[in-house]
Amino acid sequence: MSPGPVINSMLRNSLLYLSRQQRIFDFIRGNGFARRMASRFVAGETIAEACEAAADLNRHGISATLDLLGESVTSEADARDTGRQYLELLDTIHARKLDCNVSVKLTALGQDISDALCVDVVSQILARAEQYDSFVRLDMESSEYTQRTLDTFERELYSRYPKRVGVVLQSALRRTLDDVERAIGLSARVRLCKGAYKEPDTVAFPDKADVDRTFVQAMHRLMSRGFYPGLATHDEVIINEAKRFARAEGIPSERFEFQMLYGVRRDLQEELVRDGWRVRVYIPFGTQWYPYLMRRLAERPANIAFMTGSIVREAMHGTHRSPSSAPHNGAH
Ligand code: FDA
Repeated sequence: MSPGPVINSMLRNSLLYLSRQQRIFDFIRGNGFARRMASRFVAGETIAEACEAAADLNRHGISATLDLLGESVTSEADARDTGRQYLELLDTIHARKLDCNVSVKLTALGQDISDALCVDVVSQILARAEQYDSFVRLDMESSEYTQRTLDTFERELYSRYPKRVGVVLQSALRRTLDDVERAIGLSARVRLCKGAYKEPDTVAFPDKADVDRTFVQAMHRLMSRGFYPGLATHDEVIINEAKRFARAEGIPSERFEFQMLYGVRRDLQEELVRDGWRVRVYIPFGTQWYPYLMRRLAERPANIAFMTGSIVREAMHGTHRSPSSAPHNGAH
């Protein structure tokens, strides 16, 4: 192995380690440089800022999903507080008539405290989503939560709000093709992604080629037999395969959507929309942006150099670059 991949892998592991260090976050939250780095991937700390980012995407023909950043909570009060913020978010999305739904993490809504609490809080969010004809996506966290999340989804939430709630499946996991079949059997809405968490080889493919191959297999099944899947990737090879498959199988563009992260490959997002495909962008916001930023940097450590360089340039020239200019392979 050449030194490049070794250094990248060390950087990736260090960034994932740092993403879990609350004390470091407390230190850097007040740091202007780190906050500007975060603004490449995070739409701000308030509901108003997040909705403005969604409105801007809508003006470009792109749908949005808003995610209030925050990971596991350890008190019922915090879980209920997060739930209340989601209700306010849905109210604001509705009032502003945005083409936008919401994404939630069950651990931020009390899953680590008790399933009953979590179901209670999510049910309130789903009831509000029903009132507004909106939709709630349950993000998928690390593999220790997969079964619990799917159980809660199927037994407690989807059974009561089938049109309002969907799940995420990760092609990094060995179990995912089975989960795809189960979701297809239920006619449940699935967002397919590769998976952002470091997982043991026992449950996940260590080799990226297997993750990518499984993504394509799952994608084909969801596109042909699933119910309005979200294909969440920036991988151009896979996106081109989705387009080819849709054309070859006569699957209309309204039957699925591409999904990408805020600040990543805006060029590709706009190109897809121009070509008549549906695109939704996942917009994270809130005060708890640090672990999310670290995971995005771990995915592509070259972003650190890119962002540092562009922030220094902005400081020197007083210019601002939009998140759309975040890098991708081959562009910089
Ligand atoms: P891959 O990592 O192979 O990257 C392909 C190409 O995309 C790269 O070569 C590069 O050009 C570009 N790229 C990828 N990441 C980039 C970055 N950070 N900066 C710049 N360029 C980048 N995960 C999870 O575990 N649970 C979840 O619920 C979700 N939800 C989710 C929603 C949406 C809408 C998206 C797009 C992604 C997620 N993810 C997720 C994250 C997902 O699992 C994965 O970690 C990232 O999307 C990166 O994987 P790609 O599929 O883009 O491919």
